[in-house]
Amino acid sequence: MFRDIADTAAPAVMPPALHAGHNDLRQGLLEPQARISPKYLYDARGCELFEQITQLPEYYPTRTEAAILADAGPAMAQALRGHEVLIELGAGNCEKVRALCRSLWPRHFVGVDIAGDFLYQAVRRLAEEFPGLDARAVHADITKPLQLPPDLPQAGRLVFYPGSSIGNFDPADALAMLRRMHGLLGPDGGLLIGIDLPKPLHWLEPAYDDAQGVTARFNLNVLSHVNTLIGSDFDEDDWAHHAFFNTRHSRIEMHLRARQPLAVAWPGGGRRFAEGETIHTENSYKYPLPHFQDMLAQAGFSTSKVWTDERQWFAMVYAHA
Ligand code: AVJ
Repeated sequence: MFRDIADTAAPAVMPPALHAGHNDLRQGLLEPQARISPKYLYDARGCELFEQITQLPEYYPTRTEAAILADAGPAMAQALRGHEVLIELGAGNCEKVRALCRSLWPRHFVGVDIAGDFLYQAVRRLAEEFPGLDARAVHADITKPLQLPPDLPQAGRLVFYPGSSIGNFDPADALAMLRRMHGLLGPDGGLLIGIDLPKPLHWLEPAYDDAQGVTARFNLNVLSHVNTLIGSDFDEDDWAHHAFFNTRHSRIEMHLRARQPLAVAWPGGGRRFAEGETIHTENSYKYPLPHFQDMLAQAGFSTSKVWTDERQWFAMVYAHA
């Protein structure tokens, strides 16, 4: 059973304020170190490209997490017993939650994502696969306070945030996100979150700069999306993909680097870029497990279980509200 949030929600819940002028975009572009929030990577083409990334030989996170979910499936089902309300943040194609649904058989599923059409289709497919599951799609920006369907049961909630998406946020913002997740949960609530762990550079960097250039296309595509949103005149050919591990901050950084001096304009503004100057498009933090558990504790969670792979490259952490 698929329900769009529009079927059930109070007017206050929709439509999400995704198009509030994109002042954040113009502001970010004007900062000395220009930046574009990674959430703008996910237009329709960006979602497709990200799906391709998850299948690249170099991109280990999706595969490693899937293996953990599969191997630890029965143990997870045991630990997560009683969670009948599954809330996935950044649900995307709903691929990961399938495995969880098979072992957990929740009654309710809410998928939240910034890519609305992509999400609606994915949730519809999930509903077909699990008849009897009350499956809903909430089109929202998860970096903002979140309104869940008002009739969603409070008891037995589990927030599912896989894929190491938490790594996109700076530590302070990540902590704020974890606190907001905590706020969605009742006293019996839980969080199942995927985190990417630190590992040698020669494994990390190629995962964000693959031989086929898919990640480069994914990064460059953000410029077309920004053009659509604010009417700017970025030309993808003027920019080069650049990804590296920043050891001090324990994060992969993705940038777009100007191939030559150039000017970009948009209605009401614009700026020049020198050759080699960059736009910072993404961070992907790799948290040591104890460090991440500290953050969970600061957000009000207590870790109850950790599952990891043989090489300890990735961890699924289950924490209690
Ligand atoms: C979706 C944020 C988990 O950081 O690995 C993949 C995004 N960027 N390749 C990540 C991404 C470039 C991805 N997350």
